[in-house]
Amino acid sequence: MADTLSITDNRTGKVYEVPIKDDTIRATDLRKIKVTDDDFGLMTYDPAFMNTAACRSAITFIDGDKGILEYRGYPIEQLAEHSTYLETAYLLLYGELPTQSELDTWTFHITHHTILHENIKNLMDGFRYNAHPMGMLISTVAALSTFYPDAKEIGNPEARRKQIYRLIAKVITIAGFGYRHITGMPFAYPDNDLSYAGNFLNMMFKMTEVRYKPNPALEHALDVLFILHADHEQNCSTSAMRSIGSSHVDPYSALAGAAAALYGPLHGGANEEVIKMLTEIGSIQNIPAFIKRVQDGEVKLMGFGHRVYKNYDPRAKIIKRVADEVFEVTGKNPLLKIALELERIALSDDYFVKRKLYPNVDFYSGLIYQAMKFPMDMFPVLFAIGRTSGWLAQWQEMLLDTDQKISRPRQIYSGAARRDYVNLAERP
Ligand code: SDX
Repeated sequence: MADTLSITDNRTGKVYEVPIKDDTIRATDLRKIKVTDDDFGLMTYDPAFMNTAACRSAITFIDGDKGILEYRGYPIEQLAEHSTYLETAYLLLYGELPTQSELDTWTFHITHHTILHENIKNLMDGFRYNAHPMGMLISTVAALSTFYPDAKEIGNPEARRKQIYRLIAKVITIAGFGYRHITGMPFAYPDNDLSYAGNFLNMMFKMTEVRYKPNPALEHALDVLFILHADHEQNCSTSAMRSIGSSHVDPYSALAGAAAALYGPLHGGANEEVIKMLTEIGSIQNIPAFIKRVQDGEVKLMGFGHRVYKNYDPRAKIIKRVADEVFEVTGKNPLLKIALELERIALSDDYFVKRKLYPNVDFYSGLIYQAMKFPMDMFPVLFAIGRTSGWLAQWQEMLLDTDQKISRPRQIYSGAARRDYVNLAERP
């Protein structure tokens, strides 16, 4: 049997052979299917890309039915257990776990790019006192493109590497500065003797002490959370990064667009929405009434469901374990019992079982962030910090993929047929 699809066009009786490769057919192969020679030929119609592979990628593998997630072939469970975020970021970007000297060099460069140009402080001072930190992150990352004109040299591996260092390094400083701006606190500068997660906690929570000392359990928990959020194949924000990057714009502008996509409540903004939802439910007694509202289509159960996972999100399982580690230090988050009971009820309720809706990465992460004293509007920012390395890995892979060119989907035109202009005086 050949690896081809035989397509009979019943409008003409013609039969077409279309090759099958990697369980896909090339959409452009359908263009030869026409009724008359001057037809454009067939296209596929796939709103939200429910069944369209936009690229080949060697970075992340997900099996949604089995709840499997692997970065460059390494199971997420093992990376969460044994790796660090910076090591995982290296793995995503360069395809292999680093040697000790590669890791030292990588860590050195990222550590020594955490400082922001002082003008950025003035830029951030322009935001209102209650600006959402995600809006500040998006704007400030885009503004960085004006500080590094060499970022436009996207074809130069060394220039790309330098921007990769800068973005992974500076995203925690931007996040920390944003938080300090809205709390009216003086900006806490990077302390390069600290780990990546420790340095971020320092820039968030340092008070008057000479040097901030992160709590090791919270520092480790945050590092694991960054690992879990690092990449997730062609999700909404990553496909935005690829699409914007395909115009060959600099990576700061592309990453600002990716962060903007992540900000949405259906994507990375869901972790903030979960806490709002659990707070609104308020008690275990109120869960049945809330579930009824979900079943009536009135509200969504935030933190549940996934386009790919039709099983438990493996990251949610790990996050539940990290939560125990954090609650040891901070005390249990009172919303935890509502979340656990909500999960128990939902997983036994036909509405959710039928639609294969399980907790996703956002269902429990907010409980940890809240217990660690992060304000709710910082939650999507924490997601963006982890995802920065994944966005950059996918961006670089897209640039080096000879199959890729500027992203420009087609459409089905459903508008008015051609018509002539009507002068104002003659309009009804
Ligand atoms: C992330 O893509 C990624 O990889 C994303 C991410 C990553 O790491 O990058 O994993 C991170 O974004 C996780 C998802 C966070 N979002 C939320 O938790 C928001 C709540 N979830 C939903 O909005 C929804 O599940 C999505 C957006 C996550 C997925 O939506 P899909 O795949 O488009 O599914 P759908 O909306 O077509 O839903 C199918 C059915 C519908 O019901 P019917 O029309 O068949 O009656 O399931 C229902 C939906 O109404 N449904 C939900 C639901 N999610 C889907 N009903 C109630 N609550 C929900 N959460």
